[in-house]
Amino acid sequence: MTSLLVTGGAGFIGANFVRQTVEQHPEYTHITVLDKLTYAGNADNLKGLPDSKVTLVQGDICDAELVDTLVKDHDVTVHFAAESHNDNSLNDPSPFIHTNLIGTYTLLEAVRKHNKRFHHISTDEVFGDLELDDPNRFTETTAYKPSSPYSATKAGSDHLVHAWIRSFGIQATMSNCSNNYGPYQHIEKFIPRQITNILAGLTPKLYGTGEQVRDWIHVDDHNDAVHLILSKGKIGETYIIGADNDHVNNKQVIELICELMGLDKNAYEHVADRPGHDMRYAMDSTKLRTELGWAPKYTDVDSGMRKGLEQTIAWYRDNEDWWRPAKNNVEATYAKQGQ
Ligand code: NAD
Ligand code: TYD
Repeated sequence: MTSLLVTGGAGFIGANFVRQTVEQHPEYTHITVLDKLTYAGNADNLKGLPDSKVTLVQGDICDAELVDTLVKDHDVTVHFAAESHNDNSLNDPSPFIHTNLIGTYTLLEAVRKHNKRFHHISTDEVFGDLELDDPNRFTETTAYKPSSPYSATKAGSDHLVHAWIRSFGIQATMSNCSNNYGPYQHIEKFIPRQITNILAGLTPKLYGTGEQVRDWIHVDDHNDAVHLILSKGKIGETYIIGADNDHVNNKQVIELICELMGLDKNAYEHVADRPGHDMRYAMDSTKLRTELGWAPKYTDVDSGMRKGLEQTIAWYRDNEDWWRPAKNNVEATYAKQGQ
């Protein structure tokens, strides 16, 4: 009988995590989602899940009283909630400071007080970027060098978790994962933006030259890793999660999406680049693979990202009701930026 508190469980990765937990992890008898339902959160992301198993609490992770009660009442907390989009952090960093720093601090204090198991979800972006010709990958010991307000606040939240482990001995683990894609991802992000552009009859948009490399991973592979860390991970440890796609650049991804959706592979346009755009992220997930036995199911040497992209394209094609209402606003915001 284990109860689970999932912060940000109505967002992209968190909602996929809750769905995977209900389907594949009966050891968790009840799941409570704590989510502020910002523009990025959507109660519909949890639609169809049994009320007897999943409860959604709309609230802020900075609300110390609410967080204290929820953490006390659950055995395990998995912390996904964040402001998560780089482009937004360049326009207005303030919600990033609030949620990513104050929110994480608020959770840590409750976890410390009630001596509960905690897992913190983080990103590769805390390590900064690599040059395109740099053969190195990020590991658990890479020094932090964030570039944007988003990655700087995620880096700060990671430092808080490290400090609470070291200073207060909380029962926490952490993971840093590369760029995710899959169902329920907000259409402001690269891959769903291009898929829904094509479905809406708009031209896909590539920032700058598209040489940038993201080590793409399917969201279910990420969440499989989180479950393994919860069941077999060592308290106090950090695990890097990545699916070895660090040879694929944005141009190749957009070309593959065009091709898989029946267009000419060059049927996209170049738009204004992002200021301070990170060049390359690459993850070395050896520790997770060797110590915990994780391997991605969606990426393989023969097909690369093809299998995961086909599944994701099919999901957006079948779920137009989910993304259509946000499309005009998202594109209007990008248009103002020349993107
Ligand atoms: P998302 O933006 O889709 O979802 C974030 C969720 O957090 C939303 O449901 C939002 O309503 C909720 N939220 C925001 N502020 C809140 C607050 N103050 N209180 C309670 N809830 C709040 O993000 P995502 O892509 O699902 O990312 C989830 C986590 O994974 C984040 O911590 C992110 O840094 C990390 N991560 C993301 C990626 C990626 O590629 N998307 C990669 C690695 C790590
Ligand atoms: P994004 O999905 O915003 O994730 P992140 O900033 O966390 O890496 O962007 C992924 C990559 O795709 C990044 O290099 C910027 C680029 N990009 C485009 O080329 N076109 C787009 O429309 C968007 C949104 C992003």
